[in-house]
Amino acid sequence: MSKSIIFVCLGNICRSPIAEGVAKKYCLEKGYDFKISSAGTGSWHLGEAPCENSIKVAMQNSVDISKQRAVQFTQRDANKHDYVIGLDSSNVQNIKKLGQLKVYKLGDFGFDGKDVPDPYFFDGFEGFDKVFNMIDICVKNLLDDINNNKL
Ligand code: 4NP
Repeated sequence: MSKSIIFVCLGNICRSPIAEGVAKKYCLEKGYDFKISSAGTGSWHLGEAPCENSIKVAMQNSVDISKQRAVQFTQRDANKHDYVIGLDSSNVQNIKKLGQLKVYKLGDFGFDGKDVPDPYFFDGFEGFDKVFNMIDICVKNLLDDINNNKL
């Protein structure tokens, strides 16, 4: 069975949708057979499309995330995925509180364990390209590590 990887942030409208989009595209490019999804621990935006600036920065990098819709990571999801990846430390804590035994942090795969900053409160588009770049690098390193049985 193919391994499942879920990226989790707070709202599932800014950061984890980018991670999902980058991961799905990279899997196609590399021929990796992983099941990729994303979710948020919060419920404010369920059913919504990703935020405009995330769609825009992803599109600028040839990744289409416009069809994604926000879903929530709940207790029921805990320990059902092979790899659960939080985008920042508070996401990791929230995921653990829901009963997930093992959680990884995306920034550990290329950015010295740094948090991927929450762009929801950014003023406009500025900063979204930095967030994309961070996610892009770390997601690809993560998938390569999983493919090489390093995780
Ligand atoms: P995300 O950003 O976790 O990257 O999707 C956020 C989106 C919405 C909220 C917070 C963060 N919110 O509080 O509604």
